[in-house]
Amino acid sequence: MITVVGSLNIDLNVTLSHFPKQGETLLSQQFFYSYGGKGGNQAVAISRLNGDVRFIGAVGNDVYGKDYIHKLKREGIDIAGICCLEDVATGTAVVMLAQKDNAIIVTQGANGLLSVEHVEKHAQHIIQSQYIVMQFEVRDDVIEYVLQLASQYSIPVILNPAPFRVFPESWVEHITYLTPNETEYEALCKSGITIPKEKLILTMGKQGVSYFDAEAQQVCQIEAPQVHVVDTTGAGDTFNGALAHYLTQGYTLKQACSYAVIAASLSTEHANAQAGMPTHQHVLEKYQQEIE
Ligand code: RIB
Repeated sequence: MITVVGSLNIDLNVTLSHFPKQGETLLSQQFFYSYGGKGGNQAVAISRLNGDVRFIGAVGNDVYGKDYIHKLKREGIDIAGICCLEDVATGTAVVMLAQKDNAIIVTQGANGLLSVEHVEKHAQHIIQSQYIVMQFEVRDDVIEYVLQLASQYSIPVILNPAPFRVFPESWVEHITYLTPNETEYEALCKSGITIPKEKLILTMGKQGVSYFDAEAQQVCQIEAPQVHVVDTTGAGDTFNGALAHYLTQGYTLKQACSYAVIAASLSTEHANAQAGMPTHQHVLEKYQQEIE
Protein backbone atom coordinates (compact mmCIF):
# COMPACT_ATOMS: atom_id res chain seq x y z
CA MET A 1 0.00 0.00 0.00
CA ILE A 2 1.23 3.49 -0.92
CA THR A 3 0.05 6.48 1.09
CA VAL A 4 -0.18 9.85 -0.64
CA VAL A 5 -0.38 12.82 1.70
CA GLY A 6 -1.23 15.91 -0.28
CA SER A 7 -3.47 18.24 -2.20
CA LEU A 8 -6.76 17.94 -4.05
CA ASN A 9 -7.65 20.74 -6.45
CA ILE A 10 -10.32 21.36 -8.99
CA ASP A 11 -8.50 22.54 -12.10
CA LEU A 12 -10.03 25.44 -14.02
CA ASN A 13 -8.43 25.00 -17.42
CA VAL A 14 -8.27 27.66 -20.12
CA THR A 15 -6.72 27.05 -23.50
CA LEU A 16 -4.99 30.09 -24.99
CA SER A 17 -3.07 30.99 -28.14
CA HIS A 18 -0.23 32.32 -25.96
CA PHE A 19 0.43 33.15 -22.29
CA PRO A 20 -0.87 36.63 -21.31
CA LYS A 21 1.56 39.49 -20.82
CA GLN A 22 1.20 41.82 -17.85
CA GLY A 23 -1.93 43.96 -18.32
CA GLU A 24 -3.16 41.93 -21.29
CA THR A 25 -6.72 40.58 -21.59
CA LEU A 26 -6.98 37.43 -23.64
CA LEU A 27 -9.93 35.51 -25.08
CA SER A 28 -9.58 31.82 -24.31
CA GLN A 29 -10.53 29.19 -26.86
CA GLN A 30 -11.97 26.79 -24.33
CA PHE A 31 -12.68 26.43 -20.63
CA PHE A 32 -13.18 23.17 -18.75
CA TYR A 33 -13.09 21.82 -15.20
CA SER A 34 -11.08 18.75 -14.29
CA TYR A 35 -9.74 16.98 -11.21
CA GLY A 36 -6.22 17.91 -10.15
CA GLY A 37 -3.91 18.83 -7.31
CA LYS A 38 -0.52 17.21 -7.26
CA GLY A 39 -1.54 14.81 -4.49
CA GLY A 40 -4.76 13.71 -6.18
CA ASN A 41 -2.94 13.31 -9.49
CA GLN A 42 -0.25 11.14 -7.94
CA ALA A 43 -2.82 8.93 -6.24
CA VAL A 44 -4.84 8.48 -9.43
CA ALA A 45 -1.66 7.66 -11.37
CA ILE A 46 -0.84 4.88 -8.89
CA SER A 47 -4.34 3.45 -8.95
CA ARG A 48 -4.51 3.42 -12.79
CA LEU A 49 -1.31 1.38 -12.76
CA ASN A 50 -3.01 -1.14 -10.44
CA GLY A 51 -1.32 0.07 -7.27
CA ASP A 52 -3.02 0.08 -3.87
CA VAL A 53 -3.23 3.66 -2.69
CA ARG A 54 -4.63 5.54 0.25
CA PHE A 55 -5.06 9.31 0.36
CA ILE A 56 -4.68 11.68 3.28
CA GLY A 57 -5.81 15.23 2.58
CA ALA A 58 -8.57 17.80 2.87
CA VAL A 59 -11.36 19.28 0.79
CA GLY A 60 -13.90 21.97 1.60
CA ASN A 61 -17.47 21.08 2.51
CA ASP A 62 -18.67 22.17 -0.94
CA VAL A 63 -19.91 20.54 -4.11
CA TYR A 64 -16.38 20.30 -5.58
CA GLY A 65 -14.95 18.57 -2.52
CA LYS A 66 -17.75 16.01 -2.31
CA ASP A 67 -17.55 15.37 -6.03
CA TYR A 68 -13.77 14.88 -5.87
CA ILE A 69 -14.09 12.36 -3.03
CA HIS A 70 -16.54 10.33 -5.18
CA LYS A 71 -14.17 10.52 -8.10
CA LEU A 72 -11.28 9.15 -6.02
CA LYS A 73 -13.52 6.35 -4.77
CA ARG A 74 -14.41 5.46 -8.35
CA GLU A 75 -10.70 5.35 -9.13
CA GLY A 76 -10.31 2.70 -6.41
CA ILE A 77 -8.46 4.93 -3.94
CA ASP A 78 -8.91 4.51 -0.17
CA ILE A 79 -10.46 7.84 0.85
CA ALA A 80 -10.84 7.25 4.61
CA GLY A 81 -8.04 9.77 5.28
CA ILE A 82 -9.75 12.70 3.55
CA CYS A 83 -11.43 15.25 5.79
CA CYS A 84 -14.13 17.65 4.70
CA LEU A 85 -13.51 21.07 6.30
CA GLU A 86 -16.17 23.67 7.08
CA ASP A 87 -15.92 27.33 6.01
CA VAL A 88 -13.21 26.85 3.45
CA ALA A 89 -13.33 26.09 -0.26
CA THR A 90 -11.82 23.05 -1.92
CA GLY A 91 -8.44 23.92 -3.47
CA THR A 92 -8.49 25.25 -7.01
CA ALA A 93 -5.92 25.74 -9.72
CA VAL A 94 -6.19 28.00 -12.73
CA VAL A 95 -4.35 26.08 -15.45
CA MET A 96 -3.42 28.16 -18.49
CA LEU A 97 -2.66 25.98 -21.48
CA ALA A 98 -0.77 27.47 -24.41
CA GLN A 99 1.90 26.37 -26.88
CA LYS A 100 1.84 22.79 -25.54
CA ASP A 101 2.90 24.02 -22.11
CA ASN A 102 1.14 25.33 -19.01
CA ALA A 103 1.28 27.95 -16.27
CA ILE A 104 -0.62 27.22 -13.05
CA ILE A 105 -1.94 29.40 -10.24
CA VAL A 106 -3.02 27.46 -7.14
CA THR A 107 -5.38 28.67 -4.42
CA GLN A 108 -4.75 26.24 -1.59
CA GLY A 109 -8.14 26.43 0.13
CA ALA A 110 -8.69 23.34 2.28
CA ASN A 111 -5.26 21.92 1.37
CA GLY A 112 -3.65 24.75 3.33
CA LEU A 113 -5.71 23.83 6.39
CA LEU A 114 -4.82 20.15 6.42
CA SER A 115 -3.47 19.85 9.96
CA VAL A 116 -1.02 17.62 11.80
CA GLU A 117 -3.90 16.75 14.17
CA HIS A 118 -5.87 15.29 11.29
CA VAL A 119 -2.89 13.43 9.79
CA GLU A 120 -2.00 12.04 13.24
CA LYS A 121 -5.35 10.25 13.32
CA HIS A 122 -4.11 8.19 10.39
CA ALA A 123 -0.64 7.51 11.79
CA GLN A 124 -1.40 3.81 12.10
CA HIS A 125 -2.09 3.63 8.37
CA ILE A 126 0.92 5.73 7.50
CA ILE A 127 3.28 3.41 9.33
CA GLN A 128 1.84 0.37 7.55
CA SER A 129 2.65 1.85 4.13
CA GLN A 130 5.27 0.45 1.80
CA TYR A 131 5.91 3.90 0.35
CA ILE A 132 4.83 7.46 1.09
CA VAL A 133 4.47 10.15 -1.56
CA MET A 134 4.18 13.87 -0.79
CA GLN A 135 4.45 17.22 -2.54
CA PHE A 136 4.60 20.84 -1.45
CA GLU A 137 0.90 21.78 -1.73
CA VAL A 138 0.32 21.17 1.98
CA ARG A 139 1.82 22.84 5.05
CA ASP A 140 5.40 22.39 6.23
CA ASP A 141 4.35 21.06 9.65
CA VAL A 142 2.34 18.29 7.96
CA ILE A 143 5.25 17.32 5.70
CA GLU A 144 7.65 17.40 8.64
CA TYR A 145 5.38 15.24 10.81
CA VAL A 146 4.99 12.60 8.09
CA LEU A 147 8.72 12.62 7.29
CA GLN A 148 9.61 12.02 10.93
CA LEU A 149 7.04 9.29 11.35
CA ALA A 150 8.21 7.59 8.16
CA SER A 151 11.81 7.82 9.26
CA GLN A 152 11.00 6.32 12.68
CA TYR A 153 9.40 3.31 10.96
CA SER A 154 11.91 3.14 8.07
CA ILE A 155 9.27 3.79 5.42
CA PRO A 156 10.69 5.21 2.19
CA VAL A 157 9.41 8.62 1.07
CA ILE A 158 9.28 10.29 -2.32
CA LEU A 159 9.03 14.04 -1.89
CA ASN A 160 8.16 16.08 -4.96
CA PRO A 161 9.22 19.66 -4.13
CA ALA A 162 6.47 21.30 -6.18
CA PRO A 163 5.59 24.10 -6.17
CA PHE A 164 9.06 24.84 -4.84
CA ARG A 165 9.69 26.65 -1.58
CA VAL A 166 12.77 26.62 0.59
CA PHE A 167 12.45 23.83 3.14
CA PRO A 168 14.38 22.88 6.29
CA GLU A 169 17.64 21.10 5.48
CA SER A 170 16.85 18.68 8.33
CA TRP A 171 14.23 17.06 6.04
CA VAL A 172 16.89 15.74 3.69
CA GLU A 173 17.94 12.83 5.92
CA HIS A 174 14.32 11.58 6.04
CA ILE A 175 13.74 11.71 2.27
CA THR A 176 14.44 8.67 0.14
CA TYR A 177 14.06 10.47 -3.19
CA LEU A 178 13.54 14.15 -3.98
CA THR A 179 12.06 14.62 -7.47
CA PRO A 180 12.31 18.23 -8.70
CA ASN A 181 11.81 19.26 -12.31
CA GLU A 182 14.45 21.53 -13.85
CA THR A 183 12.87 24.77 -12.61
CA GLU A 184 12.53 23.42 -9.09
CA TYR A 185 16.08 22.08 -9.24
CA GLU A 186 17.40 25.53 -10.16
CA ALA A 187 15.55 27.02 -7.17
CA LEU A 188 16.84 24.20 -4.97
CA CYS A 189 20.44 24.94 -5.97
CA LYS A 190 19.94 28.65 -5.28
CA SER A 191 18.49 27.83 -1.85
CA GLY A 192 21.79 26.30 -0.78
CA ILE A 193 20.13 23.05 0.36
CA THR A 194 22.39 20.12 -0.43
CA ILE A 195 20.85 16.88 -1.64
CA PRO A 196 23.08 13.80 -1.83
CA LYS A 197 23.20 12.58 -5.43
CA GLU A 198 21.74 9.20 -4.40
CA LYS A 199 18.54 10.95 -3.32
CA LEU A 200 18.06 13.16 -6.35
CA ILE A 201 15.84 12.25 -9.30
CA LEU A 202 15.62 15.09 -11.79
CA THR A 203 12.71 15.14 -14.24
CA MET A 204 13.42 16.95 -17.48
CA GLY A 205 10.23 16.81 -19.57
CA LYS A 206 10.97 15.64 -23.12
CA GLN A 207 14.58 14.94 -22.09
CA GLY A 208 13.42 12.26 -19.66
CA VAL A 209 14.94 11.80 -16.23
CA SER A 210 18.35 11.63 -14.56
CA TYR A 211 19.11 9.65 -11.42
CA PHE A 212 22.12 8.20 -9.62
CA ASP A 213 22.68 4.59 -10.58
CA ALA A 214 24.21 2.84 -7.57
CA GLU A 215 25.47 -0.08 -9.64
CA ALA A 216 27.20 2.10 -12.24
CA GLN A 217 28.17 4.60 -9.52
CA GLN A 218 27.24 7.50 -11.79
CA VAL A 219 24.41 9.79 -12.75
CA CYS A 220 22.47 8.21 -15.64
CA GLN A 221 19.81 9.59 -17.96
CA ILE A 222 16.77 7.84 -19.36
CA GLU A 223 15.27 9.41 -22.46
CA ALA A 224 11.52 9.95 -22.73
CA PRO A 225 9.74 8.12 -25.58
CA GLN A 226 8.30 10.11 -28.49
CA VAL A 227 4.63 10.88 -27.92
CA HIS A 228 2.02 13.18 -29.40
CA VAL A 229 1.83 15.90 -26.72
CA VAL A 230 -1.59 17.42 -26.10
CA ASP A 231 -1.30 18.62 -22.47
CA THR A 232 1.65 18.26 -20.09
CA THR A 233 -0.39 19.04 -16.93
CA GLY A 234 0.10 16.28 -14.37
CA ALA A 235 3.00 14.59 -16.20
CA GLY A 236 5.31 15.15 -13.22
CA ASP A 237 2.65 13.78 -10.87
CA THR A 238 2.23 10.70 -13.07
CA PHE A 239 6.01 10.24 -12.93
CA ASN A 240 6.04 10.36 -9.12
CA GLY A 241 3.07 8.01 -8.78
CA ALA A 242 4.48 5.50 -11.26
CA LEU A 243 7.92 5.67 -9.64
CA ALA A 244 6.49 4.87 -6.20
CA HIS A 245 4.34 2.09 -7.65
CA TYR A 246 7.21 0.32 -9.41
CA LEU A 247 9.59 0.70 -6.47
CA THR A 248 6.89 -0.80 -4.24
CA GLN A 249 6.71 -3.75 -6.63
CA GLY A 250 10.40 -4.43 -5.91
CA TYR A 251 11.91 -3.08 -9.12
CA THR A 252 15.29 -1.32 -9.16
CA LEU A 253 15.53 2.46 -9.34
CA LYS A 254 16.61 2.20 -12.98
CA GLN A 255 13.60 0.05 -13.88
CA ALA A 256 11.25 2.27 -11.88
CA CYS A 257 12.58 5.44 -13.57
CA SER A 258 12.19 3.86 -17.04
CA TYR A 259 8.64 2.82 -16.23
CA ALA A 260 7.75 6.22 -14.74
CA VAL A 261 9.16 8.14 -17.72
CA ILE A 262 6.98 6.13 -20.09
CA ALA A 263 3.90 6.58 -17.86
CA ALA A 264 4.51 10.35 -17.61
CA SER A 265 5.01 10.70 -21.37
CA LEU A 266 1.83 8.78 -22.15
CA SER A 267 -0.12 10.99 -19.75
CA THR A 268 0.59 14.01 -21.97
CA GLU A 269 -1.30 12.54 -24.92
CA HIS A 270 -4.68 13.66 -23.55
CA ALA A 271 -6.08 16.90 -22.18
CA ASN A 272 -6.03 17.55 -18.41
CA ALA A 273 -4.03 16.13 -15.56
CA GLN A 274 -5.75 12.80 -14.96
CA ALA A 275 -7.59 11.86 -18.18
CA GLY A 276 -4.49 10.58 -19.94
CA MET A 277 -2.90 8.69 -17.08
CA PRO A 278 -2.05 5.25 -18.45
CA THR A 279 -2.84 1.76 -17.22
CA HIS A 280 -0.06 -0.71 -16.47
CA GLN A 281 -0.83 -2.54 -19.74
CA HIS A 282 -0.57 0.69 -21.69
CA VAL A 283 2.88 1.42 -20.21
CA LEU A 284 4.12 -2.09 -20.99
CA GLU A 285 2.90 -1.83 -24.59
CA LYS A 286 4.77 1.44 -25.06
CA TYR A 287 7.87 -0.11 -23.49
CA GLN A 288 7.68 -3.03 -25.97
CA GLN A 289 7.38 -0.59 -28.88
CA GLU A 290 10.42 1.31 -27.64
CA ILE A 291 12.70 -1.72 -27.44
CA GLU A 292 11.57 -3.25 -30.76
O1 RIB B 1 0.89 19.19 -11.34
C1 RIB B 1 -0.30 19.62 -11.91
C2 RIB B 1 -1.24 20.10 -10.85
O2 RIB B 1 -0.69 21.24 -10.22
C3 RIB B 1 -2.59 20.54 -11.35
O3 RIB B 1 -3.53 19.49 -11.41
C4 RIB B 1 -2.97 21.66 -10.38
O4 RIB B 1 -4.07 21.36 -9.59
C5 RIB B 1 -1.72 21.93 -9.55
O5 RIB B 1 -1.79 21.39 -8.29
